[in-house]
Amino acid sequence: MARPKVLLLGEIVHAGKTWEDLSDIADLITTSATNRTEFIQECKDGKLDGVVAAYRTFGSFAVTGQIDEELVAALPKSLLFLAHCGAGYDQVDVHACSERTPPIRVSNVPTAVDDSTADVNMFLIIGAIRNFNTGMHALRQGKWRGDPAPPLGHDPEGKVLGILGMGGIGRNLKKKAEAFGMKVIYHNRRQLSETMSAGAEYVTFDDLLAKSDVISLNLPLNKHTYHIIGKPEFAKMKDGVVVVNTARGAVIDEAALVEALDSGKVFSAGLDVFEEEPKIHPGLLRNPNVMLVPHMGTWSYETQTEMEEWAIGNVRQAIEKGTLKSIVPEHVDL
Ligand SMILES: *[C@@H]1O[C@H](CO)[C@@H](O)[C@H](O)[C@H]1NC(C)=O
Repeated sequence: MARPKVLLLGEIVHAGKTWEDLSDIADLITTSATNRTEFIQECKDGKLDGVVAAYRTFGSFAVTGQIDEELVAALPKSLLFLAHCGAGYDQVDVHACSERTPPIRVSNVPTAVDDSTADVNMFLIIGAIRNFNTGMHALRQGKWRGDPAPPLGHDPEGKVLGILGMGGIGRNLKKKAEAFGMKVIYHNRRQLSETMSAGAEYVTFDDLLAKSDVISLNLPLNKHTYHIIGKPEFAKMKDGVVVVNTARGAVIDEAALVEALDSGKVFSAGLDVFEEEPKIHPGLLRNPNVMLVPHMGTWSYETQTEMEEWAIGNVRQAIEKGTLKSIVPEHVDL
């Protein structure tokens, strides 16, 4: 029997040894395509036949584009597993993957990202609520705090943090926010057990909007959560609310956020993700109150290493046992 092939889409930067070790069970191949057209052609030419599992990074989007119905149809029939190196897998149409014959099972990296993403989340909360950006910007222009000095910020102590999406990142953020004296409420598709919610109060979506001093978005992007925060939702929020997003840009209607910032409804925002990365809405750039980070939620040596190791672990288990360590929830019953 021919050895299985494993396809690398994107780069392995930190876990090179673990990747190379896979060669004891599979032939490791890469794509020579530089864009989607070339990649689909490569598939059609049979160059990827025999690939059983593929490892992909967020950055490989630049070559393949969205793993959508068209791409899934082009991928070799031998491909049964797709290991995504990241928590959010909105670049992969998991429905198209499960509908194909035979289906392609998808895995993500569910927990390795929690700490570093919650860290950036906390940084954005503090920066936005204390209004640090204006002063930091003025300092670099040689103007100390600026003239006039920026308006005073607010303390996180005693403020209500509303977490929308209480998964691994949301729960990690809860612990960190409590260390800053914040009171945490949350909304989630399903209410969590007492142990899981650890004292955070479960509220309805509308109550979360109405009661929070800071709203943090920690839910995955999919067709149900696209623009979950838009004009009608901003209208239901407290005046002077702070909005923070480390999930995916498109869970917020960015244009509506800019409007809410301009009107003063939203005091400040902290954003690590944007609707059209790397493009930033000019309304955000011109607003000195807003904290902007270029999608660096997992940008740490430790986390990147752990993510790569985990995703390669999925590939190894797929080849050795025909299963995945962390299959995405949509594919659990496949
Ligand atoms: C893909 O890359 C090839 C080779 O560089 C180029 O000829 C072609 O125009 C590109 N196609 C697209 C759609 O960018």
